[in-house]
Amino acid sequence: MQNIYSNIINFNKKSLSKIIKILRNNDLVALPTETVYGLAANAYSSLAIKRIYRIKNRPKKNPLIVHYFSLKQASKDIIFTKEFLILYKKFCPGPITFILNKKKSSKIKKEVSAGLSSVAIRFPSNQILREIMRNLDFPLAMPSANKSGKVSPTHIEHVIKDFDKKIEIVNGGRSKIGLESTVVDLTKKIKILRPGSILLEEIQKVLKKKIRVSKNTKILKSPGMTKSHYSPGIPIKLNVKKPLKNSAFIVIGKNYDSGKNIFNLSKKSDLNEAARNLYKTFIKIKNKNYKKISVMKIPNFGLGVAINDRLKKAANNGS
Ligand code: TXA
Ligand code: MG
Repeated sequence: MQNIYSNIINFNKKSLSKIIKILRNNDLVALPTETVYGLAANAYSSLAIKRIYRIKNRPKKNPLIVHYFSLKQASKDIIFTKEFLILYKKFCPGPITFILNKKKSSKIKKEVSAGLSSVAIRFPSNQILREIMRNLDFPLAMPSANKSGKVSPTHIEHVIKDFDKKIEIVNGGRSKIGLESTVVDLTKKIKILRPGSILLEEIQKVLKKKIRVSKNTKILKSPGMTKSHYSPGIPIKLNVKKPLKNSAFIVIGKNYDSGKNIFNLSKKSDLNEAARNLYKTFIKIKNKNYKKISVMKIPNFGLGVAINDRLKKAANNGS
């Protein structure tokens, strides 16, 4: 793609110093992660954090995830638990977020976690992001790089759409996973707050015990589970069997050729591919000016669980 936008940064040695400068200056920059694009800021700076809330128009009560390069760096701020270390060893760096308690001496600003004593932390695997974090002496608070209530961006074009030229964006190509990280609360009885590509079954297997999954999608301690998230902004109907008139129809599998009104997430019924395409498809449909979306039943195993979770939240909010 020709780089026609002046605020898109291609990653190299020279731009690395520019990105570091922006972050040290407590300014914002959009960065690629393996899940979705994030909007990064110095987690040790109140000013930088306030900038995130302002530009996203994010409710102050919705806490951010703090992203670390290494366990050593995180150990300065966070109280580790036995289960955390087991999960870290198995899945990190990778698409999983842990809710843990902060140390008294933690330098994470209170604005990051909306005044809670717990904080969400993650160790992303994207190589560009890791190279940037390796060169910083502070962790990055990073929500998804979209306006509050909109779907998370999986391509730089989506970030541009929400923020125009207000921020610099580091180009990392399309997001590998396409759905946000799995969120696991480790502060009390372990619970999955948000399903993602690290599956419940995998977590249960390494911890050798049953784990609860948050069912309540409305009132929850993780505001990301509330209905104001993940919405393309038009009504969505789920478990639809046939295309409806004047409605975009999201499908999966070989029974549907991509015809008019049909948007196939994966012709070969690959749920990883479907996850990668979900948000892009929402945005495509919105851009084509459809006023309604219907979705066929999506298998509820593997990444299908996370896809169905996001679809349900989008459907809750679709007006
Ligand atoms: O994959 C991801 O997690 C992406 C990339 C950029 O890392 N980030 C992301 O951030 O999805 P965000 O802000 O869109 O979602 C963070 C979620 C929200 O649901 C938030 O409520 C929850 O994590 N969260 C953050 N801190 C929390 C805490 N202390 N307790 C409970 N939930 C928390
Ligand atoms: Mg988000």
